Order: sequence, then C-alpha cells, then structure tokens
Amino acid sequence: MRGAVLMAALAVLALPAAAEPPAARIGELRELVAQDCGSCHGMSRAGGLGAPLTAEALAGIGDEALEATILEGRPGTPMPPWRGLLNEADARWIVRHLKGETP
Ligand code: HEC
Repeated sequence: MRGAVLMAALAVLALPAAAEPPAARIGELRELVAQDCGSCHGMSRAGGLGAPLTAEALAGIGDEALEATILEGRPGTPMPPWRGLLNEADARWIVRHLKGETP
C-alpha cells in the first residue's frame, strides 16, 4: 500500500507540468468543476454569479487566457485564484473539459 502511494507520488513528480492529469485526478477535477465552479457558474455552467462556462461561451477565448483566469483568478471580481488547489495540468484539463474537447 505504502509502495503504491510512493509510486503514485513519483509518477506525478515525473510528469511534465502540463501533461494530462492522472486518471484518479481527473475524477476529482470533475467533482470540483461540478461542485465548486458550479456554485458560481451554475450546475449546468450556464452562468450565475460567474459568467457562463459553456463550450459556446468559451469558444472564442484562448486556452491560455482561460487557464490563467483559473489559476490566477480575476482580481476585483469574485473569481478566486485556484493556484494551490490546481496546477497547470489541472487547469489545462478543465479548459478542455469546459470546451467539450474531453468528456
Ligand atoms: C465565488 C464565485 C466563483 C467561483 C467559485 C468560481 N468562479 Fe469563475 N468566475 C467568477 C466570476 C464572478 C467571473 C467573472 C469575472 C469577471 O467579471 O471578469 C468568473 C470568470 C471565470 C472565467 C472567465 C470566463 C470568461 O468569459 O472570460 C473562467 C474560465 C472561470 N471563471 C472558471 C472557473 C472555474 C474553472 C472555477 C472552478 C475551479 C471557477 N471559475 C469558480 C466567479 C467564480
């Protein structure tokens, strides 16, 4: 068991910063998007306190700009920075997920 945890930790450390998150992490990210992001952006991401995060709404916005918004937040608005809870790979996966590029 401890060996497995160590192996998982090493696998995470060995990944380049922006690689696809590990499968177990993707499950956590799905939850986070539904629960935490959904609390402001709506369960169906149609918008609420936060702007809509549907694939249509985000289609014209570059991936890197969206990743930066997720990691750094939007100072002066309720959009919080998620760096600390999310790394670059997580943010990149979320953007692709919101844009409908990954299930
Ligand atoms: C406390 C409320 C709140 C939470 C929680 C929140 N957001 Fe936001 N978000 C906002 C607001 C408000 C804006 C609009 C900011 C502005 O006026 O520029 C925003 C903007 C954004 C944008 C930019 C959209 C655009 O059209 O440019 C993205 C992307 C985004 N949020 C993603 C997320 C993700 C992903 C999460 C979960 C990890 C999340 N947000 C959680 C409030 C929130």
